[in-house]
Amino acid sequence: MNIAYNMDCMIAMKKIEDKCFDLAVVDPPYGIGMDGGTVGYKGANNFVKKGWDKSPPPPEYFLELFRVSKNQIIFGGNYFNLPPTRCFVIWDKGAGFRGRSYAEAELAWTSFDRNTRIFTRDPLCNGDYKGKIHPTQKPIALYSWIFSKFARPGDKILDTHLGSGSSRIAAYEAELDFVGFEIDMEYFQEQEKRFDTHISQLSIFAGGGVLLIFAIDFDGTLCVDRYPEIGEPREDVISAVLDAQRIGNRFILWTCRIGERLEEAVAWSAAQGIIFDAVNDNLPDMIALYGNNCRKVFADGYIDDRNVRDLLGVEI
Ligand SMILES: C[S@@+](CC[C@H](N)C(=O)[O-])C[C@H]1O[C@@H](n2cnc3c(N)ncnc32)[C@H](O)[C@@H]1O
Repeated sequence: MNIAYNMDCMIAMKKIEDKCFDLAVVDPPYGIGMDGGTVGYKGANNFVKKGWDKSPPPPEYFLELFRVSKNQIIFGGNYFNLPPTRCFVIWDKGAGFRGRSYAEAELAWTSFDRNTRIFTRDPLCNGDYKGKIHPTQKPIALYSWIFSKFARPGDKILDTHLGSGSSRIAAYEAELDFVGFEIDMEYFQEQEKRFDTHISQLSIFAGGGVLLIFAIDFDGTLCVDRYPEIGEPREDVISAVLDAQRIGNRFILWTCRIGERLEEAVAWSAAQGIIFDAVNDNLPDMIALYGNNCRKVFADGYIDDRNVRDLLGVEI
């Protein structure tokens, strides 16, 4: 089960039984006005200011949250009147955020009687804000890490303030049951689209159990096109390729580069973690299957900068 509702969580929680959820991972308004406009680092700006971050949730919210869930992880826990805890989750945004006028880390209060834990991830370097749909969107990887440390297989997860749906996607990937609520219709619809794109991307790669062969272009696709130099890495595309390879799909590098320039591209890709199954060539088992090695390489999908969104679900 993985469901999102366009609903006020205060109304929704009233209908939920006591301790229905194993773990609530929530990110309510902190009351600091970060809901769009011109505040915040690259990306909180350029969103229509909707006014939901004027004040933190009322005390009844926390009473209900504690009633419907067995354990809680509450982002912005330093803004709310919560009991003392041994275990905070600290999201350290990495060296790029040090000494700037923005927060270097965010704190989540937890109900766990364990040591405080730190997760370090720079959302800018990792491309977490590419295609951002929400002013306070958190990385999927942050939720994935939280679930890997604090959830158990079969757990039922609640997010009362879904926003961009990063928690929902991470729960889906971790095969956890999930219910989320988002009051704003526009955010809700955007997160539905984001979730569907993510699922269809996974299903292309999983192919219903059939593993696929992709021929992928280099300049403009895996890196920004600065041929004959190699441009900046396209982090989202690289991580989508790595995810697809991890579950067994195979990738052929399919590029106009030759000689030294080609060798540079192969070495650069290896440094990003991508080892190709073939380079400007058919896979050996396809040569054996078809009994020839024709000039057009055989693949189930041919990926370049124009269709990377359709085949990898990545906006560039
Ligand atoms: C801090 S943001 C959550 C961001 C989210 N963690 C993410 O990664 O995108 C809080 C969200 O709660 C929503 N919200 C505010 N009050 C709500 C309520 N009573 N019920 C459900 N959602 C609410 C806001 O519209 C906003 O999208």
